[in-house]
Amino acid sequence: MAEDLLLAVRDLRTSYFTYEGEVHAVNGVDLEIRRGEVLGLVGESGAGKSTVAWSIMNLVPHPGRVVTGRITYRDQELLRLDEETLREIRGKELALIVPNARNQLNPLVTVGAQLANAYRAHRPRASAREAREQAVAMMAAVGIPDPRRRASAYPHELSGGMAQRIVIGMALLHSPTLLIADEATFGLDVTIQAQVLETFRRLIAERHAAALLITRDLGIVAHYCDRAAVMYGGEIVEQADTARLFVDPLHPYTHLLLSAVRYYDLDRSELDVATTAAHSFDLLRPPPGCFFYDRCPKRMDICRTDHPQLRPVRPNHQVRCHLYADWSADA
Ligand SMILES: Nc1ncnc2c1ncn2[C@@H]1O[C@H](COP(=O)(O)OP(=O)(O)OP(=O)(O)O)[C@@H](O)[C@H]1O
Ligand SMILES: [Mg+2]
Repeated sequence: MAEDLLLAVRDLRTSYFTYEGEVHAVNGVDLEIRRGEVLGLVGESGAGKSTVAWSIMNLVPHPGRVVTGRITYRDQELLRLDEETLREIRGKELALIVPNARNQLNPLVTVGAQLANAYRAHRPRASAREAREQAVAMMAAVGIPDPRRRASAYPHELSGGMAQRIVIGMALLHSPTLLIADEATFGLDVTIQAQVLETFRRLIAERHAAALLITRDLGIVAHYCDRAAVMYGGEIVEQADTARLFVDPLHPYTHLLLSAVRYYDLDRSELDVATTAAHSFDLLRPPPGCFFYDRCPKRMDICRTDHPQLRPVRPNHQVRCHLYADWSADA
């Protein structure tokens, strides 16, 4: 594995085995995350973003499981590790922050003490005083006003947004090599959100770590991610450097996402076609053609019958769409 490649996900397929049948939530996802990089995973609700995160952490909830795929973290195949080794890596190197994570805090310990413990867990020789100072500094970094006083509060004494910031601070004090933030700042006030995301970026740069930022918010992707992967129906449909994706989006679904936030102009009639047919296909029975077929304003006959592959259209830019098939004929 290349020196700076931290995580490689190959052909990941994860399903939920329900009474109705197999829900194909993740349908062959490939991702790479390098040190120093923030990768955004974006897509509407139900796209499979959280299922990707849980698959990487080997925490897919019942009745789900990873069906096939490889997840290589540094030189280790995460899906093949025994639970004990995996738990160790999860605690030390990988961190997953979910929304509304208050219940991850110990209700009986002050938040300052919990943060100080998180700091010392990885720096056993740190003094109690240093740990306390770092805890307070982290509280300030995630936007908690009057952190010195609030350090002695118990979790139930804090608002939901404040508790969420403590959970984020805890994850960061653990110094993860790979931070997976799944809508971690959802619901936080925008200025606080910006401060927290800046803190992610700064720590990742300083520690030569990496992050996967999962969000439905393209604004977050535009501001905080180096690269972005767009998910639809459990697949990556487009992946590019963020600047490229916003300036020159190719997949019709990416157009739709961008038009919804007015970063991009789409013909009004195209938008109507695309938005009126939401939730067009059933993950229990993925269609043989393109998953976006029913909503796509640019669909062609081939799209109904042939499933498009994710293909490179230029360096660092891949798209899963028959419109661009011939661009990569010799790629
Ligand atoms: N426990 C479950 N049982 C059955 N189906 C599930 C379960 N959890 C998720 N799914 C289905 O898997 C698909 C992907 O869900 P997932 O939560 O990964 O999407 P998401 O992109 O994270 O959405 P959101 O933006 O709403 O968080 C959805 O169709 C969802 O209904
Ligand atoms: Mg989710």
